[in-house]
Amino acid sequence: MNRARRKLEHIEHALSIEQERANGLDDIAFVHQSLPNIGTNDVQLHTAVGELSLSSPLFINAMTGGGGRETMAINEQLAEVAKACGLAMAVGSQMAAIKEESERQTFTIVRRVNENGIIFANIGSEATVDEAKRAVEMIEANALQLHLNVVQELVMPEGDRDFTGTLQRIERIVRAMDVPVIVKEVGFGISKETARKLVEIGVQYIDVGGFGGTNFARVENERRNDRLMYFNEWGISTAASIVEVTQTAPNVSVLASGGIRTAVDAVKALALGAVAVGVARPFLKILIEQGVEALIDEITAWHADFTRMMTALGAKTVSDLQRAPLVISGKTHHWLTERGLQ
Ligand code: FNR
Repeated sequence: MNRARRKLEHIEHALSIEQERANGLDDIAFVHQSLPNIGTNDVQLHTAVGELSLSSPLFINAMTGGGGRETMAINEQLAEVAKACGLAMAVGSQMAAIKEESERQTFTIVRRVNENGIIFANIGSEATVDEAKRAVEMIEANALQLHLNVVQELVMPEGDRDFTGTLQRIERIVRAMDVPVIVKEVGFGISKETARKLVEIGVQYIDVGGFGGTNFARVENERRNDRLMYFNEWGISTAASIVEVTQTAPNVSVLASGGIRTAVDAVKALALGAVAVGVARPFLKILIEQGVEALIDEITAWHADFTRMMTALGAKTVSDLQRAPLVISGKTHHWLTERGLQ
C-alpha cells in the first residue's frame, strides 16, 4: 500500500472511531453570574499565545500529513476555512515532504491559500534541527508544533521503540528556531512532570493534547486487529492535563486540545487556563462529509456561542475568562487532589 493510501485509510479510521466523552470537561462547571455588567458587543475573542496574536482562541489542529492529491485537497479546504474564519491552523506532519520533494505541495498549498494567516508547521520530536527548520520554511510558518506520540508508536508494529534523547533533541530545536515551538501531545495528555522537564529546557508553548478525543491507540488497534487494549484507556484527560501544566508552568502558554467537541468544551478549557483551543477530528469530519461552507457555518456558530457564554460570565476577553470562578467535581476533582493540584 502506498503512503498516500495508508494515510487516507488512517484518516478514515480516525473519523470512524467515536470515543465516549472522556475529556474531563463535564466535571467542570461555571458559576453563574447574575450581574455580568457587559454586553455581547463588549466581548473580544482575540487571544495572545505568547508572541503570537490570534483573532480567535479556536484553531484547527494538525491532521493531514503524508502526501497525495486527496490530502492536498483536504489541506486546501482547511486553509480556506481557516482564512474565512480567521483561525490559526496547524498542518499535519511534514516529515514525508521533507524527505520527498514531490510531497511539498501537500503543504505549500496551505500558505498559498491563506497568505497572511497564522500557520503552524508540524513535525515529530524525532526531527533534527535541520528538518525542523525546513518544515517551517516550507510553509513560512508562524510557529512549529513538535509532536510527542510514544503510545501511538508503541502500538504500531512498525513504530519506534526507543525514545531516549527526545528531550535533548527538543532543546536543540527550541534553541535554533526563530519562531515559537509548541510541544504537543496527540491524545494522551502532558503531565506536570513532563511540563517541568520541558520548561527546564526552555519550552514556552505546550499543547496538552489530552485524552478524551481522537485516540490513536484505538485507531491503530482497530486497524490491525492487534488489540493492545491497555493503551486504549491510557492517558491524562484534557481537563486534568490543562491544570497539570498551567499550575506547574505558569509562564507557559498552554494550548488545549483532545476531545474538544463543543463550544462549551472550548470555553471551559479556556477558563481552566488555556490561551487557545485546538480541534481536529470533528472539523475534518464536517469538512469531508458536508464541505467547506458547512464547516465555516459550524465555526461561526462556535464563535457566537463563545460570545454568549463569555457575556453571561462577565468576561470581555479570554484573559477575563481565565479568571472566571469554576467548580471541579467528579473524577477530575479526584485526579487533581491526588496529584496535589488543588
Ligand atoms: C491527527 N493528529 C496529528 N497530530 C500531529 O501532531 N501530527 C499529525 O500529523 C497528526 N495527524 C492526525 C491525523 C488525523 C486524521 C487526526 C484525526 C488527528 C492529532 C491531532 O492534531 C490532535 O492532537 C488529536 O486528534 C486530538 O484532537 P481531537 O481530534 O480529539 O480534536
